[in-house]
Parts: sequence; C-alpha cells; structure tokens
Amino acid sequence: MTRKVTILGSTGSVGQSTVKVIQAQGEAFEVQAITANNNVALLAQQAIALNAKCAVIANDVYYDDLKQALSGTNIGVAAGRQAVVEAAEMPADWIMAAILGMAGMEPLMAAIKQGSTVAIANKEPLVAAGPFVMAAAQEYGTTLLPIDSEHNAIFQVFEPENKDSIERIILTASGGPFREMALEDFGSITPEQALAHPNWSMGDKISVDSATMMNKALEIIEAQRLFDIDPEKIEVLVHPQSIVHSMVEYSDGSILAQMGASDMCTPITNALGYPKRLKTPGEKLDFTKIRQLDFEEVDHKKFPFVQMAYDCLKSGLQSCVAMNAANEMAVQAFLGHKIAFLDIYKLVSQTLDRVQPKALNSLNDVVEYDSFIRSTVDSQ
Ligand SMILES: NC(=O)c1ccc[n+]([C@@H]2O[C@H](COP(=O)([O-])OP(=O)(O)OC[C@H]3O[C@@H](n4cnc5c(N)ncnc54)[C@H](OP(=O)(O)O)[C@@H]3O)[C@@H](O)[C@H]2O)c1
Repeated sequence: MTRKVTILGSTGSVGQSTVKVIQAQGEAFEVQAITANNNVALLAQQAIALNAKCAVIANDVYYDDLKQALSGTNIGVAAGRQAVVEAAEMPADWIMAAILGMAGMEPLMAAIKQGSTVAIANKEPLVAAGPFVMAAAQEYGTTLLPIDSEHNAIFQVFEPENKDSIERIILTASGGPFREMALEDFGSITPEQALAHPNWSMGDKISVDSATMMNKALEIIEAQRLFDIDPEKIEVLVHPQSIVHSMVEYSDGSILAQMGASDMCTPITNALGYPKRLKTPGEKLDFTKIRQLDFEEVDHKKFPFVQMAYDCLKSGLQSCVAMNAANEMAVQAFLGHKIAFLDIYKLVSQTLDRVQPKALNSLNDVVEYDSFIRSTVDSQ
C-alpha cells in the first residue's frame, strides 16, 4: 500500500534530502503537497519529479510564475501563507516539517492536528512553544519523529520503559567551524566563513547557528521538550568528527549511541520508515576511513549560548521565546552583513536581559510575545 506524504519546506536543505529519500523508495510513497517560500524553479521541478498533487509557494508574488512553470501538468498550484497551512492539512500519513524558523509554527500545528506522523526538523517552534506543540501531539494522537540528527539518534536509543534509569543524555556537537579559532579572532568572522561547516551541508541559518553553537542551545531545549527530561540530565560533548550523533547513558553504566555518516538522509530515512528500516540513498559510514573519535568539553567562553539554553529553561518559556526570536533576527542581520559575528551574542543577551517574568498560557500568547520581542530587537 502506498503511503501519502507531504514535505513542508521541500526546497530547503532538509527538504531536498527528503525528496531524495522519497525518490529512492520507488512507488512506495505518493506525494500530496510540497511547499517553498520563494524558490519557484526548484519547487516546480520537484513537483514534476515527484508527481505531487499540489505545489504551494508561501510568497504569493510568485503565484503566476509557479502556475506557468506547472502549466500542462495536473499539479495543483496555490500561494500565500494560508495556502501553506492548507497544504499541511491535506490528508497525509507522514509529513515532513522542514520550514525554517518560527514561520513553520502554523503549518507544523496544522500537520500535528491530522493525527498521523510528523517528522520534525523545524526546531524553532519546539524551542519557543514546546509545551503546546507536545500537548497538541498528545491530544491528536500524532507521532512526532525527530529529524535533527542528534535527537533522531537519542530517539533510536531511548528506552521509554527505562526512562527512570536514564542518567544522562549526551548531545554531541561538532563544535562548528570556529572550534579551534582563538576568541580574539571572532570579531572578524565573515558570513562566508560561518557558512563553511566542516562536516554538514545545511541551510544558511542553521550553519550560522552551528558556528555560534546557538544550534546546540536550541537542541538542548529541543531535547528537553521531545524527551521530557530534566535539563540537568542533558549534557553537551564536542565531537568534531560528527560520527556519534548522540548517546543515552543508563543507570547500569551502559551508554547507547547511534552512529552514522554526516548525512541527513539517515535520520530522514529512519523517520520515513519508522518503525521499519528503509534503505538510505545517502552516505554510509566506512570505519576503515575513521582514524579516531575525539570528545572534548565545550569552551563556554567562546560559545556562551550553550549555558544560555540552561538558563532559559530555568527562567521559563518567555526566555526561550526571546532567545529564539532575537537569534533569528540577529542571524539574518549577520548574513546580510549588517552586524558582526560577535553582535549575534550581544543582541541575544541584551534581549534576554530585558525579559521580565511572563506567563505564556497558550500558543497565541507565544506568537504574540515572539512578535513583541522581534519588535524590540534592534538588528539594523
Ligand atoms: N539543514 C540541516 O541539515 C538541518 C538539520 C537538522 C535540523 N534542521 C532544521 O530544519 C529546519 C530547516 O532547515 P534547513 O537547513 O533545511 O533550512 P533552509 O535550507 O533554509 O530551507 C528552509 C525551507 O523553508 C522554506 N521557508 C523559509 N521561510 C519560509 C516562510 N516564511 N514560509 C514558508 N516557507 C519558508 C524555504 O523555502 P525557499 O527555499 O523558497 O526559501 C525552504 O524550503 C530548521 O529549523 C533547521 O534548524 C536542519
């Protein structure tokens, strides 16, 4: 029986890997909807290659371009933010949530409300609205499968029946491109340098997040949300080779790790097949080419965002929303050459310094607070 799938954010880095994984499975999957923001050419090409039912472009100025690119096909075309949400609502057995940032929140929630399976790469909504995202998944009986390689690794070695015996979740981190650079030289880091990740090929925002290690900060909060685990049990260990994607230590001293190549096809294939195992079209690990596996502590002077995640979890949801919103704005400004690399930290920490205790009791409260924070961040 074919399974119906939808890819939200199909033109992005995770989206393209998802397309590759689905294509490698032959006729087993039928594509319902695929979505993008601006990239009409790739979206149309993917829609044709996947024989998708519909293609949706969030930025509605591109509606005519998409319509023209898909003329002569039976593929439905729609545009606008609401159309992306409607794409997420099309009945599907498996939905990949791979939109970037908080822009993915509404489509993610629409996908969750279907009550099927949502593969979640889009970590920002989990960070900013985790309790509401997880509660909705529970309410609608949706299976959430983590796509971040670290969280997918934890998911694979996490024994829910032995949750009380978990002593540590060890999130590994590559350390990014500036692991060995002296802090004194951080002031002159350019976007081009920050985008050159040593192990992973990813979208621009997450590449900068990896360079500042904000990505690991977001992942600490993401892990807390997904696995409902005491933050004190979540540790970060720098592992420059990115072979061990994360580990769980149990009370009997056993540490279970998941390993693989630095290729998002592995976690995506894992989630697409779950609970079965499909064949990845991606890279496989060759142990004869790995000389050593190194592990080291995080240098908190160079990468203060890691500690910031624990502080935010302690102080409350409003701090998680603020950290994420300020970071999204700061990274965009850095990529646009408007601020320096070190200003990312400055902007985020200044924003957090202004945060007052605030109860966020609903998803709506989170969305409003996220907009408020964005209006206060001066990233020009
Ligand atoms: N890349 C990785 O290896 C990786 C690994 C783990 C987790 N993640 C997480 O996965 C998410 C996606 O990352 P990525 O690296 O794949 O990002 P990306 O390459 O920038 O792709 C983002 C996707 O979202 C679409 N998009 C962007 N803004 C949108 C908006 N306002 N409305 C609707 N769609 C929008 C983009 O469309 P256009 O192409 O038209 O702009 C694209 O399809 C992030 O949350 C990231 O943290 C990524």
